[in-house]
Amino acid sequence: GAPVTQSLKKIEPGQQLIVAWRSLPVFIVNRTPAQLAALPNQDPRLVDPKSDGASADQQPKYAQNETRSIKPEWLVMVGICTHLGCVPNFVGEMKPEPFDPNWQGGYYCPCHHSRYDMAGRVYQGVPAPKNMVIPPYHFVDDSTVQIG
Ligand code: FES
Repeated sequence: GAPVTQSLKKIEPGQQLIVAWRSLPVFIVNRTPAQLAALPNQDPRLVDPKSDGASADQQPKYAQNETRSIKPEWLVMVGICTHLGCVPNFVGEMKPEPFDPNWQGGYYCPCHHSRYDMAGRVYQGVPAPKNMVIPPYHFVDDSTVQIG
């Protein structure tokens, strides 16, 4: 499949845009400082917080860091649940949700209730086994990303 180029200029902080790449939904999120600050706090509740275990093959080397990204604020991720392939819903709000009083923002899969944080890292106790996939991507300039 051909690479996909996307401008980031209209994605406000806290917003997600979905683009198609190789027939897959790719989530592009402009993460807020609060969402980024919440990431390290989630580690004890995650299956593979450093993505160095079962998820090591889920991301390029340049995304093997706490934010799983090249630039901390920009999450670029294949939006496919690692359980059976549904598309998780973006639930970016910091407010508590009924299904998780400690919710700090992230993703909720409608099929079998797997949950992921704002870096696509899967929580313990859900059916999905791995963090969501970070695709190959790079920045063409400060406000343009190319996927693939
Ligand atoms: Fe997402 Fe089953 S496909 S939890």
